[in-house]
Amino acid sequence: ALLTFGLVLLAYLWGSIPTAVLVCHAFDIPDPRKKGSGNPGTTNVLRIGTRKAALVTLLGDAGKGYLALLPCVLLDLGSEIRALCAFAAIAGHMLPIFSSFKGGKGVATTFGACFGLFWPLAIVQLLVWSILAGISRRSSLASVGTALVSPIFIWLSAPQYIAIMLVISLLLITRHRSNISNLLSGTEPRI
Ligand code: G3P
Repeated sequence: ALLTFGLVLLAYLWGSIPTAVLVCHAFDIPDPRKKGSGNPGTTNVLRIGTRKAALVTLLGDAGKGYLALLPCVLLDLGSEIRALCAFAAIAGHMLPIFSSFKGGKGVATTFGACFGLFWPLAIVQLLVWSILAGISRRSSLASVGTALVSPIFIWLSAPQYIAIMLVISLLLITRHRSNISNLLSGTEPRI
């Protein structure tokens, strides 16, 4: 129990690192929480900054999701604790203790955590996201679509993670509320 608590807490703290804010600061780009969509994430760093800064943000956010799972992988722990660590990292990204609980939408962190949870899922997510983004040119539409496909894929291939995937997808979709209303009214910006 103590190990579980420790790893989940670590995953939350790790997830709380505000990558986009730190990267923009380092690259002399305006605060992503105050420009563009206001979201501290890869898409908005690309929007208000540079490709390089966006790539570093993506690697940082996905990396912290993956690293939250790494102790579970190394210690060969069970699926319940892995699911809790994935959830904690994503919750940390969305509600970061280091950034007045104003975090991002959790797409890249989910991708990294899912890579650690069950890597084939991450490959499917990458494919689905890329295809939807390629067709629609809207990052948010690709993210919401990927959030819808992920539980279906997990249900078919690694059902021990269906509950956590449903929770994560629900959180992801909830975080994209404003994007969804923009998509419906045709005002969502292109990538
Ligand atoms: O990764 C977040 C993306 O799905 C939407 O971001 O900045 O366009 O609201 P943004």
